[in-house]
Amino acid sequence: MHNSVFPFKLLELSVRGDERGSLIALEALSAQIPFEIKRVYYIFGTCAGVTRGKHAHHRLEQVLIAVSGSCDILLDNGSARKTIRLDNPAQGLYLSGFLWREMSNFSPACVLMVLASEHYDEKDYVRDYGEFLRLAKK
Ligand code: TYD
Repeated sequence: MHNSVFPFKLLELSVRGDERGSLIALEALSAQIPFEIKRVYYIFGTCAGVTRGKHAHHRLEQVLIAVSGSCDILLDNGSARKTIRLDNPAQGLYLSGFLWREMSNFSPACVLMVLASEHYDEKDYVRDYGEFLRLAKK
């Protein structure tokens, strides 16, 4: 699903496998990653019971990939919520619009890699849920 109401899409990433194992290659401005990648970060060693995120972005595009382990990504568009479970390194969650997101239920070995379209910019964040709801309903 990808539209302005719930702007996310689950991407199936091509796996190059052979008798040695598997490899996934991601290239910017491709069908897999539809933006120029300016930043990569990854979340790992997450303590049990932790919820991360709890913010929205004004304009950032991201692809989230659980390259190891699993976690849940809650998406909230201001009027509805969806939870996407990421548990497959061949699956990418593309987020491109104004969505509140929370990450939780990290397995102990989870490595959540995030490809982002912009450098880190705190001004792009909305970290207050009340403010997010006000802006989402405009
Ligand atoms: P934070 O926004 O709390 O992470 P999350 O949304 O996953 O809960 O970020 C944690 C710290 O890392 C905070 O001090 C900001 C910093 N940070 C960067 O410096 N660059 C980045 O690209 C990101 C995502 C965070």
